[in-house]
Amino acid sequence: MEKRFAHLSVMAEVAPPMVVTNPDGTYVDATFGRGGHSRRILSLLSPEGRLIAFDRDPQAIESAKEIDDKRFSIIHAPFSHMREELSLKNVDRVAGVFMDIGVSSPQIDDASRGFSFRMDGPLDMRMDTSCGQTAAEWLASASETEIARVIHTLGEERFAKKIARAIVQSRVTDPLVSTQQLAKLVAQVVPANKKDPTQNPATRTFQAIRIHINSELDELSQALEAAMDLVEDGGRIAVITFHSLEDRIVKRFFDEKAHPERRFDSRLPLRASELPAPELTDIRRILPTEEECAANPRARSAILRVATRVRTGRPA
Ligand SMILES: C[S@@+](CC[C@H](N)C(=O)[O-])C[C@H]1O[C@@H](n2cnc3c(N)ncnc32)[C@H](O)[C@@H]1O
Repeated sequence: MEKRFAHLSVMAEVAPPMVVTNPDGTYVDATFGRGGHSRRILSLLSPEGRLIAFDRDPQAIESAKEIDDKRFSIIHAPFSHMREELSLKNVDRVAGVFMDIGVSSPQIDDASRGFSFRMDGPLDMRMDTSCGQTAAEWLASASETEIARVIHTLGEERFAKKIARAIVQSRVTDPLVSTQQLAKLVAQVVPANKKDPTQNPATRTFQAIRIHINSELDELSQALEAAMDLVEDGGRIAVITFHSLEDRIVKRFFDEKAHPERRFDSRLPLRASELPAPELTDIRRILPTEEECAANPRARSAILRVATRVRTGRPA
């Protein structure tokens, strides 16, 4: 029996109305979590509207059973498979796609999931506990160079090489199996953050390993491409991210699709009609209010980006 862990949805009032442009449409919530955004989206739909949610976490899928609404359904799959999964339901166009990227509070707060350096638990970190390699398995087999690369690129950690060396040396006699073992090991080689002494030295390492284990950045890039294929003309793609690596992917993706002409040298003698047409327009960046950040510290790093799909028929 799953213990109950709550999740306070970020920008729950602002984001869903940005996605729902047609109450009769079919929408995707790619990250169900505990369904805060899904419930809000459903409240904006007519009896004809439909919401198809995704989550890769079996506990999220379990909690979705609480939603008793014939307009709602949920799929246990990574959101990068959105197109294929929807096509199995004969859906090849939707009115909008919403994503609230990253981990949920129930995942972080449950020590047995291994996401948190604050509590002791098995070093797992998989969002989908039904498949894939755990963090402990990866740390036991990856090379020192690979561990250093992941911690450096996905954690933006200056001491990545030192941490990787400590992990590889320690695992010879002492396999890393628990979150506290890893947190203590990192604390031995990473000095306290001078700018923010309250930050746990293992913060960046845990973030990096989690992103790697769940292929989070690739998932996001693939889901954005899938959303482009799926969303109808005038429909929206809305994404909430929680750190700069993710936000950069969304920002660049939206910019490139909104300004495909920037790929061409402006000195080339090309008429406007010869340039590729924008596929996205009306790009917006929305931050949570100060009140929300005070009430929900998770909101502090959130950025919501919204774009409207345009389908002109001209090649992009
Ligand atoms: C921030 S929470 C979403 C919270 C949700 N919006 C709510 O209101 O309760 C992110 C959720 O997305 C799921 N998730 C993250 N990456 C995923 C992926 N690639 N495919 C499917 N689900 C994913 C996680 O398992 C987690 O439940």
